[in-house]
Amino acid sequence: MAMKGIGAAMKEIKAMLRGEKAYSARSLAAQARRIRDRSGAAMTRLFPKDSLQGPSEASPEIWQRWALFERLARDLGARAESLALAAERAGPESATDTGSKQLATMPEKDAGPPGSKLPMAEFAELAKSCAACHREFRIEK
Ligand code: HEC
Repeated sequence: MAMKGIGAAMKEIKAMLRGEKAYSARSLAAQARRIRDRSGAAMTRLFPKDSLQGPSEASPEIWQRWALFERLARDLGARAESLALAAERAGPESATDTGSKQLATMPEKDAGPPGSKLPMAEFAELAKSCAACHREFRIEK
């Protein structure tokens, strides 16, 4: 369930960065912090030892390499927070701010990042953090 929340937040962020949804630094930061709040200890405590029962995509490796799992869960939080801060630094606060006029008038096909203002690099780092843990510890079924 927590992962689904993370997945949903990630989708929202992606849509905003692609211009498929009105971009606002405030809502992007809020979504990033939803991820942050589900990272670190909040995430690892959802994986108590020997909890592999029923259908799960969690690899048993998690408990053999717990330190790495914990580190990746912490990294996730740090990167989610970096993304939130970067968005807040860059602005604009909301899609109706004058700063984002540019966004509003952009032709559909170019609706991606309006220049270097959007926190694309931080987003990419965050996405890498998901992939790094899934590669090690998630068995896609
Ligand atoms: C520290 C490790 C770790 C990190 C970091 C991580 N995940 Fe996961 N994720 C897992 C594991 C393990 C599973 C499989 C859990 C299970 O099936 O019990 C999973 C499953 C999922 C699922 C499937 C959930 C379901 O119910 O089918 C989604 C979606 C997901 N992760 C999204 C993300 C996104 C997006 C990020 C980054 C923003 C992320 N995860 C970061 C370990 C991680």
